[in-house]
Amino acid sequence: MALRDPHGRRINYLRLSVTDRCNLRCRYCMPAEGLVKVGHDDILSYEELLRIARAAVAIGVEKIRVTGGEPLVRRGIIDFLQRLEAIPGLQRLVLTTNGMLLREMAADLRSAGVESLNISLDSLRPQTFAEITRGGELRRALDGIAAAEAAGFEFIKINVVVMRGVNDDELEEFAALTLDRPYRVRFIEYMPTLAQPGWEATVMPGAEILDRLAKRFPMADEAPEKMAGPARYRRIAGAAGLVGVITPVSCHFCGECNRIRVTSRGIAKSCLFDRGTVDLRPILVSGDDIALGEALRRTVAEKPDRHQLAESNGGQGQIDMARIGG
Ligand code: GTP
Ligand code: 5AD
Ligand code: SF4
Repeated sequence: MALRDPHGRRINYLRLSVTDRCNLRCRYCMPAEGLVKVGHDDILSYEELLRIARAAVAIGVEKIRVTGGEPLVRRGIIDFLQRLEAIPGLQRLVLTTNGMLLREMAADLRSAGVESLNISLDSLRPQTFAEITRGGELRRALDGIAAAEAAGFEFIKINVVVMRGVNDDELEEFAALTLDRPYRVRFIEYMPTLAQPGWEATVMPGAEILDRLAKRFPMADEAPEKMAGPARYRRIAGAAGLVGVITPVSCHFCGECNRIRVTSRGIAKSCLFDRGTVDLRPILVSGDDIALGEALRRTVAEKPDRHQLAESNGGQGQIDMARIGG
């Protein structure tokens, strides 16, 4: 039976964060000093994460996206993904990464059964890339994307967080990447996850992004993907790939939300911006996996009908993207 929340939405997608550590410190995600490190004991073991995943699939989850922090920095991740992929009933295993380790790991991810990759890439200019990521090397990210393609990943999704005055002069260049490669380049509205007064000025609304692109390229709407997230796509005439926008700020897509999240510390979250959470750790300790499924059902039952981004977090609150996994 399909899993539904009280607002009638079908929930079939789990975002599972396996670590809050990261080998970058993007400005929109982490404070300059990085996050206070959580000890190894606070992070769920792979065994525990697998129990959660199995319980989720048993109640109706069909797609799992593994996130971080940066999921590829956690030791043993390939073996874990292999075991996750083998869960009967799970239809799609996918992963979001910053690409820094893909040069070394793309082929193993493919053989572990990861179906597709979403890769962050916020600038095509080495200097801007380093500024946004606080020291990241553009070359590594590009090599990572090339390695993923060579390993057989098709339709790679490239995530670009658009920030006015920082990288908004690169929209056309990013869109042009789709002309001869089957990438899905997704422009994401910057979300005020860290306490940042004046954050509104940094947001470039999706409609403005599309208007800008339409001035340069003839484009047509594309049908949404199955079991997918919030991106809305267009295709430039004759292009191999797609451009898309993800508009959590200007036009939230909560009406079609299909997902729940579990953090690497075992907190189930009904919404990225919601404080209503269920702590799975005591249940994990009890060893009762039926209760684990019930706790996930409770999380689904608590899903708000929409987020209160502007109201609850307008530059005062703090959402730890790295802990929640985006
Ligand atoms: P797929 O459709 O499965 O490819 O996933 P996705 O696009 O949701 O995943 P990805 O990890 O690439 O995230 C892309 C952007 O969407 C990130 O900035 C996420 O924080 C944002 N995002 C994903 N899910 C939600 C959500 O439920 N609410 C909000 N507000 N933003 C989300
Ligand atoms: N606003 C928009 N997107 C964000 N991400 C992380 N922090 C933010 C933010 N403040 C994106 C990353 C990554 C995805 C998982 O979440 O770029 O692609
Ligand atoms: Fe790391 Fe992703 Fe956060 Fe950047 S956005 S610091 S890559 S977790």
